[in-house]
Amino acid sequence: MKPSPSHSPSPAPAVSASSGDSFIQLRGVEKAFGTQRVLRGLDLDIYRGETLVLIGPSGEGKSVLLKHIIGLLRPDAGSVCFDGTLLEDLDERQLRPVRRRIGYLFQNAALFDSLSVADNVAFPLREARVKNEDEIQQRVQEALEIVELGEHAAKMPINLSGGMRKRVGIARAIVDQPEILLYDEPTAGLDPIVTDVIDHMIRRMKKRFGITSVVITHDMGSVFKVADRIAMLMKGVIYFEGTPKELRSSRDPLLRNFITGRSEMTMRSGWGDRAPAHDNPIHPD
Ligand SMILES: Nc1ncnc2c1ncn2[C@@H]1O[C@H](COP(=O)(O)OP(=O)(O)OP(=O)(O)O)[C@@H](O)[C@H]1O
Ligand SMILES: [Mg+2]
Repeated sequence: MKPSPSHSPSPAPAVSASSGDSFIQLRGVEKAFGTQRVLRGLDLDIYRGETLVLIGPSGEGKSVLLKHIIGLLRPDAGSVCFDGTLLEDLDERQLRPVRRRIGYLFQNAALFDSLSVADNVAFPLREARVKNEDEIQQRVQEALEIVELGEHAAKMPINLSGGMRKRVGIARAIVDQPEILLYDEPTAGLDPIVTDVIDHMIRRMKKRFGITSVVITHDMGSVFKVADRIAMLMKGVIYFEGTPKELRSSRDPLLRNFITGRSEMTMRSGWGDRAPAHDNPIHPD
């Protein structure tokens, strides 16, 4: 049982296009690699316009879950429904228009080292066969300006800092104007100031473009700063889902340990004194 769920998902695999404002639904999703069962009947809804933060111990399957949303991995059982379309019904070619609606920031930013910043960001447009080179350049420049890298278009990835690489990854994820952004650890390994910049950027995407976001992070400071809702993945299922307030007031020892442990870590990195003051200082409910 989930300690304090905000709603009860319907039983697997009852998914339909008419599930209220639920944009993406995962029902009864199972995924194993060999004998390792990673996802074990996972249910999760992602609502249109929300920022859902996905937390959980390392190796529990957070990145694997994200890859199911974009159809890079397919479930062994259960279903993933994207805006009324069951992904299992689509082949690789049919998945392309769905993927165009999704921006994905990979865990390691995954830039092409042989391409300049501008060409990295242009990549999804060229993949989508946008032909007009002036339009490509304009959209690339706009995306780079949103992540405050407008001056760095000609640089090669090897000459960028870790924070800049992440921001190029974000620019590439947003360049094709997706409806949903999936961020896999956008601030991992970054200092608190750059982390702050990226957290603001995530909020800005939502405010400016109404984008739905899923953010995986281990940084509890970031969690409370960007989340409308939080889901915790553990032992292959969503162990908790609820608002930041519900997470903070939970008495579940496992959740408490997770928050406290992580909060102490973020305090050591200079964030903690700001994090617990309000559910969401940038975006109060
Ligand atoms: N393609 C794959 N083949 C085999 N095993 C995989 C594959 N992808 C993921 N795994 C395994 O699935 C488990 C979950 O991996 P995943 O990357 O989703 O963890 P995570 O929760 O994102 O961890 P972290 O917080 O460290 O990024 C790991 O044990 C990983 O080795
Ligand atoms: Mg991961």
